[in-house]
Amino acid sequence: MSTHINAKLGDIADIVLLPGDPLRAKYIAETFLENPVCYNQVRGMSGFTGTYNGVRVSVQGTGMGMPSLSIYVNELLRFYDVKKLIRVGSCGAMKPHVKIRDIILAQGASTTSNMNNRRFGSVNFAAIADFELLHETYMTAKSNGMKVHVGNILSEDSFYEDYNSNRNAKLVDYNILAVEMEAAELYTLAAKYDASALCVLTVSDSLVTQEETTAEERERTFGEMIKLVLDTVTK
Ligand code: ADE
Repeated sequence: MSTHINAKLGDIADIVLLPGDPLRAKYIAETFLENPVCYNQVRGMSGFTGTYNGVRVSVQGTGMGMPSLSIYVNELLRFYDVKKLIRVGSCGAMKPHVKIRDIILAQGASTTSNMNNRRFGSVNFAAIADFELLHETYMTAKSNGMKVHVGNILSEDSFYEDYNSNRNAKLVDYNILAVEMEAAELYTLAAKYDASALCVLTVSDSLVTQEETTAEERERTFGEMIKLVLDTVTK
């Protein structure tokens, strides 16, 4: 049992999906997993373990933003020996060719977060996805006929930014596909603890067109993304 996760060693699978929203964790467990068992309710941050294709998989809510995700991912890595962590979340499109409802595999996560400044000082650590996990997910998507974008994203500290349009224009120029709030910390911690991590995102809104997906669309594309991830990690 760790400070924020009320589970015994062995209650959590080697493979963990990480939605930000704990209600999404419950939805994933109840919709996609067989025999889901809830192992955590501390602070309402639900965690479940079940099976998919006969393989044990857990789903753990992380909350929003890197400081919150960092608590759960640290505990999963330090105390529960988790080996594969896949964030399943949403993002805002920054490049015009990235459309709402599209899926992104985040190859790298640039960040405005102070967390890595505190860790690394003047070094700009490149927070990157695990190559095999990225490659396998990409190949599953291709063989299922799904179109995915692969590239660099931005992990921001705040959702309600006073967006500096010049800064965003520069990031777009340098091929940043989309913005979210957690991946850089996930990739950094996975590197430290020798685990594999990937962030898979559905585009919920566009900073280019100001469009937003409806709740119904979000649920459908979210389901497609979860199936892609579960099919990949249980192969
Ligand atoms: N997650 C989904 N949309 C986002 C946005 N526009 N900015 C940051 N995180 C997001």
